[in-house]
Amino acid sequence: MLSYKDFLGLRETSVDDIIKILEASKQMKQIVQSPNKKAPHIQGKSIITLFYENSTRTRMSFELATKYLGGVSANISSSASSVAKGETLIDTGKTIDMMGTDVIIMRHNFSGAPHLLAKHVNASVINAGDGMNEHPTQALLDMYTIIEAKGGLKGLKIAIVGDILHSRVARSNIWGLQKMGAEVTLAGPDTLMPAEIARTGVHVSNNVEEALHGADVVMGLRIQMERQKKGLFPTTREYCRFFGVNEKLLSLAKKDALLLHPGPVNRGVEISSAIMDGDKSLINEQVQNGVAVRMALLYLITRSGANE
Ligand code: NCD
Repeated sequence: MLSYKDFLGLRETSVDDIIKILEASKQMKQIVQSPNKKAPHIQGKSIITLFYENSTRTRMSFELATKYLGGVSANISSSASSVAKGETLIDTGKTIDMMGTDVIIMRHNFSGAPHLLAKHVNASVINAGDGMNEHPTQALLDMYTIIEAKGGLKGLKIAIVGDILHSRVARSNIWGLQKMGAEVTLAGPDTLMPAEIARTGVHVSNNVEEALHGADVVMGLRIQMERQKKGLFPTTREYCRFFGVNEKLLSLAKKDALLLHPGPVNRGVEISSAIMDGDKSLINEQVQNGVAVRMALLYLITRSGANE
């Protein structure tokens, strides 16, 4: 049902495949919201989550997505497995593969790690976030959330604000949103803006006010402290003063603008508590849609064809 065995990034995913997943997510959302969350779509399929980095939303939503659709799921975290004894990624992957696994969902701190694994296993590999590269299911759930609220993506002005340099969420959204016809503006400190990013077709600004002006959607990003080796901004207080999105800044966007954030949020740093809990915020909807979108992806990727 999808074009490839693996789902590694939105850069390489076709518009057709993106639409297929987003369409299937609608039906999946009904299951998530129903009192009886037991559907047979992936009955008999074995899904493993292999996470080398921390996660609350992504891992939990993949696990619940598997269970709601009748699949079998198990988790491996690097600290509790033979990875901690020095086993290589490929050896770990082959071991999982031999246990009858249909899908390996992987998060890794190195960009490209899921791509490497995918070459060595028969199971489908889903990228649940690789270093600073991509987090394609996050962008899918962001797109789904926007479509649900706005009816589509074409022509929408979307401002992504914050630590673009370290953000795999931003990169997946840059590929996905533009493929779907949205206009993307990035804003953040120069030190957190990758030099080559304008080549993807986005607008780049170091002025948040300019980026938010007339936006349909404002997406905040977490400052990725764990990926910063050197001080790329003086203090979080200073960051917040110049780049933190608050009520005043958000009022520059359209009246019916939406606020998104992938979570986890540094409350009061990249976005203020007031707007996080305010009526423009769809942060809770994003979490729920994350389960629906991952159900759709698991269903489509395990259908005969994609796994061959
Ligand atoms: C994101 C991630 O891990 O890349 N989180 C998520 O999956 N919801 C964003 C982040 O950690 O800041």
